[in-house]
Amino acid sequence: MLNVTAPAFEHHTDPLGIGESAPRLSWTVTTDTAGWTQAGYEIELGDGTATGLVESAESVLVPWPGAPLGSRERRGARVRVHGADGSVSDWSEWSHVEAGLLDPADWRASAAAPSLELLGVPDGPALLLRRDFTLRGPLAKARLYVTAHGVFEAELNGEVVGDEVLAPGWTSYRNRLRYRTHDVTGLLREGANTLGATLADGWYRGRVGFLGGKTDIYGDRTALIAQLEITYEDGTRDLVATDEHWRCATGPVTSASLYDGEKHDARLHPAGWSRPGFDDSAWLPADALAHDPALLVAPTGPPVRRTETVSPVEVLAGPSGETILDFGQNLVGRLRIRVQGPAGHTVTLRHAEVLENGALAIRPLRDAAALDQYTLRGDAGPETYEPRFTTHGFRYAQIDGWPGQLDPADVQAVVCHTDMRPIGTFECSDPLLNRLHDNVVWSMRGNYVDLPTDCPQRDERLGWTGDIQVFAPAAAFLFDCAGPLSSWLADLAAEQSEVGTVPHYVPWVPLVFDVSPTAAWGDAAVLVPWVLYQRTGDLGLLGSQYASMAAWVDQVGTLTRGHLWDRGFQFGDWLDPAAPPDDPGKARTDHALVATAYHAWTAPVLAETAALLGHDADAARYAELAERVRAAFRREFVTPSGRLACDTQTAYALALTADLLDGPEQRERAGRRLVELVAADDHRIGTGFVGTPLICDALCSVGAYDTAYKLLTQRACPSWLYPVTMGATTIWERWDSMLPDGSVNPGEMTSFNHYALGAVADWMHRTVAGLAPAEPGYRKLLVRPRPGGGLTHARATHLTPYGEAEVAWRLDGERLSVTVQVPQNTTAVVELPGEPAVEAGPGQHVFHCVTTPR
Ligand code: BGC
Repeated sequence: MLNVTAPAFEHHTDPLGIGESAPRLSWTVTTDTAGWTQAGYEIELGDGTATGLVESAESVLVPWPGAPLGSRERRGARVRVHGADGSVSDWSEWSHVEAGLLDPADWRASAAAPSLELLGVPDGPALLLRRDFTLRGPLAKARLYVTAHGVFEAELNGEVVGDEVLAPGWTSYRNRLRYRTHDVTGLLREGANTLGATLADGWYRGRVGFLGGKTDIYGDRTALIAQLEITYEDGTRDLVATDEHWRCATGPVTSASLYDGEKHDARLHPAGWSRPGFDDSAWLPADALAHDPALLVAPTGPPVRRTETVSPVEVLAGPSGETILDFGQNLVGRLRIRVQGPAGHTVTLRHAEVLENGALAIRPLRDAAALDQYTLRGDAGPETYEPRFTTHGFRYAQIDGWPGQLDPADVQAVVCHTDMRPIGTFECSDPLLNRLHDNVVWSMRGNYVDLPTDCPQRDERLGWTGDIQVFAPAAAFLFDCAGPLSSWLADLAAEQSEVGTVPHYVPWVPLVFDVSPTAAWGDAAVLVPWVLYQRTGDLGLLGSQYASMAAWVDQVGTLTRGHLWDRGFQFGDWLDPAAPPDDPGKARTDHALVATAYHAWTAPVLAETAALLGHDADAARYAELAERVRAAFRREFVTPSGRLACDTQTAYALALTADLLDGPEQRERAGRRLVELVAADDHRIGTGFVGTPLICDALCSVGAYDTAYKLLTQRACPSWLYPVTMGATTIWERWDSMLPDGSVNPGEMTSFNHYALGAVADWMHRTVAGLAPAEPGYRKLLVRPRPGGGLTHARATHLTPYGEAEVAWRLDGERLSVTVQVPQNTTAVVELPGEPAVEAGPGQHVFHCVTTPR
């Protein structure tokens, strides 16, 4: 048996309307022949292109073999593989890819902006737009290419188009505005048809940012940009595009704000407004505004969708008798209610992540009201409502004004986030560690509402670069995020050129402080693409980001003195547990040490990137820079014997993992000191954003596995498990977002859903379970489990680009058994504790050894 999957295109899960004219192809192979390896492949395209046998072991992101796709062009692709043993697979199934609008000239639509007479203040009413049209004959196919200035939901003949939430998401709209392609063939009918959309302010015009935030960031008028292309059976085409012939009106949504929530008065819903036959004579004409079609880009990943619904687990009474539902899980999304009552009656929905003294703790939301209101239509029968233009971060919801007795089954939490494929799992024998890991997964879900954010609930929700920089390795293991993150990185690069440095968050919104180059945050420009390359093998992504990566390192080079980065604003080891609640940047580790260490970390990564891309002169130059920065770091911060000028967990973690020390003696001394420091803190964590993702690796790199496990399994505050013992269901922003007495940390910046400190999950995957890439894209696996912490079993799975990999171990006394699944076309190097490394080919293997648990 030798099977090959139908090829996938780039990182797309749904290759309809893609922006790549020569999408790379990937496939995976399954076979029961032990040790099978691919010696060659053949690709056929639907237009007759046939590669013949290409002698190559590659199966991931293989170059497109034919003529580039034209706009709207759909082509099939199939593959078959040849084994080194002479075997040949059958042809795979065909898979189909369809290009979007690849040329700005393809865009004929203007931006249809609702009349100024209707436009409210920012975060005011959502407006309706509609246009009737008639089909001329039998339909062959129809595509809707659509985006907006604002957030929208499109409807065709009364049906919602697609299943996206908060379309078109948030990109750096000044540089890139994502559109999406929908196959709407099935929604059109003979004769009269209607295309409509509800349009809210969203990120374009609504309030975004902390300390009051900003409105009208990208413009003061929302608009729909839509192009419905109809192809008839006779090959002729019609175009229905947004222009001045569209009509607009207010609708039931009287205000919609990403932070504050939505107000919906169902009595104001114009029945049948997005169906033919509706009388829109009282509606106003939309204005057709110019827009730059060169900014419109096709998506590289999936949209935000409703991915799960969660039922309440308990109905609680608040201190004043208010009804509070507990969903048992801190999540991101909104409620869907089913309610029956008199016309004009209003139900109010409030949201919070935690309770304090039995009431919703809303202080951490700062200036985000997170409040939805539904006013009933009141005609016969139950009404269903779910807000469409907002999301909240919550576990608890207070329901006020429910008509009659509330049946909790009538309220569901609808989880919303970018619909990335989950590709990684972890479990072990310790239920608290499993909960910690689940919390990481939930924080990743909640903080990926179209872009990687810091938090999902308060008046912030920004694409903070430092947060994803530290979390990217865990993210890339858990979810297929290469597509979504490559979009965000394109924004990062665009904004970096625009504002002159890597902004603190992307998309950048100027708020209170100026944009300035900041270590660990700006280093996302180098480290996020690098992590994605390591995990997916996508060299093209490094190629696309190279200019941005190099510009960052070059810029830092201009800020250093004698290669030390010791001036300018820094976040440093943000949220060091010793920092006071109101001064999270007041870390014990010197900002200059952190900044210089990062420079010394990213310069060699850039040198390696340059070498991979064939930029040899750059590679040599950056390698030399790396050496100089390392030398400067040592001169300034390292004693000859290996002690650091800053005697902190973070300083040692950085020096050890970024390889900044000189030889084994310094490493050994530094390692010993780190172990002492951790022990002196009673194995409580002493690191903030910078040290946290590194400390366990640093300890293990000097053999101190037991110390790493003591840190990991510590339950006293501060530690990873302390929040778990406090009932956390997501990763908290602060080690002590909730204090041991159950009160909320007094700091004004206290979220209960921030993934950064959950970056340790990556170490759990690689070291506790023992599943890591040894070569980019897991072409070779590193299987290196290091049991400890009293665990008796652990297991991780990861869907690598080559197929499913698994490491599962079990400890029976001192006997360790390890089961390893190696995907086809890859190999593994297996390093069991105390054993020499062995190589393993594709397939399942079981290894045994004797070990002393740590
Ligand atoms: C965010 C962080 C972010 C930080 C900058 C905060 O407000 O929530 O996660 O990285 O600011 O240091």
